Amino acid sequence: MRLLSRIASLADISPITGGGNCRLALTPEDGHGRDLVVGWMRELDLDVSIDVVGNIIGTWSCASGSPVMTGSHIDTVRTGGRFDGNYGVLAGLEVIQSLKDAGITPSRPLAVGIFTNEEGARFAPDMLGSLVYVGGMSVEEALDVVAIDGARFADELQNIGYNGPNPCPGPTPHAFVELHIEQGPVLESIGYRLGTVTGVQGISWQELTISGQSNHAGTTPMSMRKDPAYVAGRIMVFLRDLATRYGAPQVCTVGKIDLVPNLVNVVPSTATMTVDIRNTDEATLQRAETELSDFLALISGEENVSISTRTLARFEPVIFDERVVGIIDNVCASFDVPAHRLPSGAGHDAQMFARVCPTAMIFVPSIKGISHNPAELTDDVDLTLGADVLLHTMLRLASTTFTTASKS
Ligand code: GLV
Ligand code: MN
Ligand code: MN
Repeated sequence: MRLLSRIASLADISPITGGGNCRLALTPEDGHGRDLVVGWMRELDLDVSIDVVGNIIGTWSCASGSPVMTGSHIDTVRTGGRFDGNYGVLAGLEVIQSLKDAGITPSRPLAVGIFTNEEGARFAPDMLGSLVYVGGMSVEEALDVVAIDGARFADELQNIGYNGPNPCPGPTPHAFVELHIEQGPVLESIGYRLGTVTGVQGISWQELTISGQSNHAGTTPMSMRKDPAYVAGRIMVFLRDLATRYGAPQVCTVGKIDLVPNLVNVVPSTATMTVDIRNTDEATLQRAETELSDFLALISGEENVSISTRTLARFEPVIFDERVVGIIDNVCASFDVPAHRLPSGAGHDAQMFARVCPTAMIFVPSIKGISHNPAELTDDVDLTLGADVLLHTMLRLASTTFTTASKS
C-alpha cells in the first residue's frame, strides 16, 4: 500500500540500528527527508510553499477559501522511530491522492504541512516551526536560536536550502487536524484502535548549569567538595520524588546531562542538565516549577555551588476544539470503530494551531507504548485506519462552517 511504502522509503533516509531514524532538525539528513517528501508533493501537483523558518506547505487548490490543513513533522530525535511525525505528513498526502483518484473534490482546499523542528531535540523550543507559523515567536528570535551542537538555526536552514520566501505568521487555515501515533500505552492497554485527542499537556523545559570546584578525586575530602555531579544527582532524585508525590499525570525527566571535564578521577567543574516537567494542569505545573526552584536554592547552598537556569520551552496545557473533537468521534463511529478520548502526553504542532483555528488530533495505538526509540511500532492496519479517519475528518471539516473562534 502506498502510505506504508512511503513510510518505509522515508525511513530509508538516515536509518539507525533497530529500524528507526536520526534526522535531527536542519541537518543534511533532515534536508534529504524534505527533498523526498517535497518530490511527492510535486508529483501530486500540490502548490508547494516554503516559509522563512523552513515550514513546507503543500496545498491542493481544488476550491476557494482557506484550506483545511493537516500535517506534522519529519525531523526526529537522535534515536527516533519511523512513525513519529512522518506518519501524519505522509497520511496527509495519502488523503489528497486518494480523493484525487476517487474524483472527489472537497469544498475547500486541503493542505499538508511539514513543520520545522517539532522535536526540539536539536534546537529549543520544540514545535518551533508551527509556533512561528502562528505568530507565537518572532522570525528573528527563531533564526537566532543556537543548537545543542552550537550551530545557528538560520545558518543550518540555509545550508539545507529551505530558507524560503513565504512570510510568517502564515495564512490561518479553516481548521487543523493532525494524525499521529499515540506514543504511549493507553490505547493498547484498553483495546482501542483510535483515539480522539482532547488536548496536550503543559510542557516546561529548563537547562540547569551547576558550577562548582573541579578538584582531585582522591585528595579532596568529601566535606570540602563543591561537586556539580552530586548536585545533579540530588536534583534527579528530587524530581522523581516530586512526580511520585504528585501522582499521575505528573511526569519529570532528566534526559541530557554533560559533565566537565567528564573524567574518572576529577571532581567536575560543571554539570549541565535538562529538566522536562509536564502536567495537564497549569496550576500543578507551576507548583512543580516552584518546588524545583526552591530545591535548587537549598541544594546550591548545601554544596556551595552556583546554579543558573535557562528556559528552553514553556507551553501551557492546550484544550482542543470540542467541535473538531466531536467530528472525529463521529467519523470513528461511522467506521464502527469507537474512539477513546485522551489528552496527549507529547507535544505536537497541532497545539500551536489551536491558538488560531479549530483544531484537534487523531491517535492510533503504539505497540507497547514505545516511542522516541527505534523500536516504535504501530500495526499496518491501524496506520491505514487512521489515514481513512483523517480523510473523512478533513472532508467534514471542509464542509463545516465554524461561526466563532471559541473552543467549546
Ligand atoms: C516532542 O516529541 C515532545 O513531546 O517532546
Ligand atoms: Mn511527533
Ligand atoms: Mn517526537
